[in-house]
Amino acid sequence: MNLLMQTSAWPALRSKAIQLSRVHLRNFFEQDAERFARFSLRHDGWLLDYSKQRVDGETMTMLMDLVSALDLPRGIRALAAGDQINFTERRAALHMALRAQDGSHADVVRDCRAALEHWVRLIRNRELLGATGQTITHLINLGIGGSDLGPRLAMEALEPQWNGPVVKFVANLDPVALDLALRDCKPAHTAFVISSKSFTTQETLANAQVAMKWLADGLGSAGVGQHLFAVTNRPAAAQELGVPAHHCLFLPEWVGGRYSVWSSISLPLACAIGMQAFGEMLEGARSMDEHFTRAPMNANLPVMFGLIDFWNASGMGLETLAVLPYSHLLRSLPSYLQQLEMESNGKRCTSTGELSRAPTSPVVWGGSGIVGQHAYHQQFYQGTRMMPMHFIVPRGGRDERSRMMQLNALAQSAALMRGKTRDEAMEELKRGGLSEQEATRLAPHVACPGNQPSTTLIMPELTPRSLGQLIALYEHKVFVQGWLLGINSFDQYGVEYGKQMARSLASGRLPSDADASTRGLLSALEHGV
Ligand code: F6P
Repeated sequence: MNLLMQTSAWPALRSKAIQLSRVHLRNFFEQDAERFARFSLRHDGWLLDYSKQRVDGETMTMLMDLVSALDLPRGIRALAAGDQINFTERRAALHMALRAQDGSHADVVRDCRAALEHWVRLIRNRELLGATGQTITHLINLGIGGSDLGPRLAMEALEPQWNGPVVKFVANLDPVALDLALRDCKPAHTAFVISSKSFTTQETLANAQVAMKWLADGLGSAGVGQHLFAVTNRPAAAQELGVPAHHCLFLPEWVGGRYSVWSSISLPLACAIGMQAFGEMLEGARSMDEHFTRAPMNANLPVMFGLIDFWNASGMGLETLAVLPYSHLLRSLPSYLQQLEMESNGKRCTSTGELSRAPTSPVVWGGSGIVGQHAYHQQFYQGTRMMPMHFIVPRGGRDERSRMMQLNALAQSAALMRGKTRDEAMEELKRGGLSEQEATRLAPHVACPGNQPSTTLIMPELTPRSLGQLIALYEHKVFVQGWLLGINSFDQYGVEYGKQMARSLASGRLPSDADASTRGLLSALEHGV
């Protein structure tokens, strides 16, 4: 039996989940004036409010019992120490080392940082010249998954600070993605960063081939290499493709793709915002690491955040998690978190080789706060599912609109928790001038059940430092959930299976046991419908 199932806290939590599923969140607040103070946590300008979650004091005690029974502090120490926490691939997961000031692998980290700094300086100073002696002014990142999403998120989040070359990201294999990126680029002024830890990723390599042809058409084949960079764990493979050795930046094996935004994968980002701002982002993440590794469990932001999400997804069995950043600059956070959360914890096999009997990662989705209010929030209000949410609200802002936006986040979480009863709806309709009969007819349509659980995260104004803290906070939260579930958050064998299937179809040799649907679809694509 896997370890979670062996704890006495797990059955207690399951019974608690059944008991609390009958309680309306509104009652919690009516019965306890101190609820906000009891179920919220502050640290370094951050506030995690989980008082609108379906938890009581006993739930938190049980979750803490689980933390002790499964020895989460040992897990955190093992992660930080570089133990082989990725137990299937027998690797460490040392993303924290990339932002540490010293410690394990400090020499490798220092070398990687020096190479990054070197190229960032040249490019930002406009000293990097292309094959025709002209300045490189445009950088295009070719990468996917962790070699795209983290730097892309940070680029968007820090757009007000761009002061370097033009940077674009191309992840999709759809030819139009690269075509559009190239529309206003000239070969003489453009360099490509082929970002791929494995340097085997089909989509990235296919785009790289097209980019190289575009360069060759514009500059002649001898000039192509000068316009290529690679960030990879396999520099030999990059060189074989034609990237000059001194243009290959190294990505250590112990950095997982989805945890690599702190590495040279962020070359384009660092070129856009400068090493100083990139350093501040690392510093923010480091401060969150220090908190995560030192703070007591019940005063630990990532631990408490992770426990609440574990409770919703695994304890209560709620299937989705909507991430709602109330910040235009953080609009790509949900996409980034889809990989971080679902590629890390969207698994079923536990460390003992047995299947998890607890549900693991929820379906993570979401979008820009405010914008979503006029789209999918209707379902939060009156749909038939319980849909946990994260409201992420940076403080500060430029004018009254920022304040309006922040207050909207608070209004949504309050209304979705509280709801509007049928009686309240009746009253409201009658106050609005409707007859008793008309109000009775409409009240069920106007009433909102409320009872939607949410966590609100108030964070400092968005800066490189607070962005670093935010990303590290989520990384650690995901680790906490994975540890409690007893799964390996650092491999992704499922994705590999999909890649095998794609390779087999691309080779033109259908597996002999290919299903009829796939055969039919293939024929429709090739010969028309
Ligand atoms: O989707 C699987 C995956 O391996 C991710 O984990 C990774 O971030 C992405 O593909 C890209 O991989 P690479 O950097 O090796 O091209």
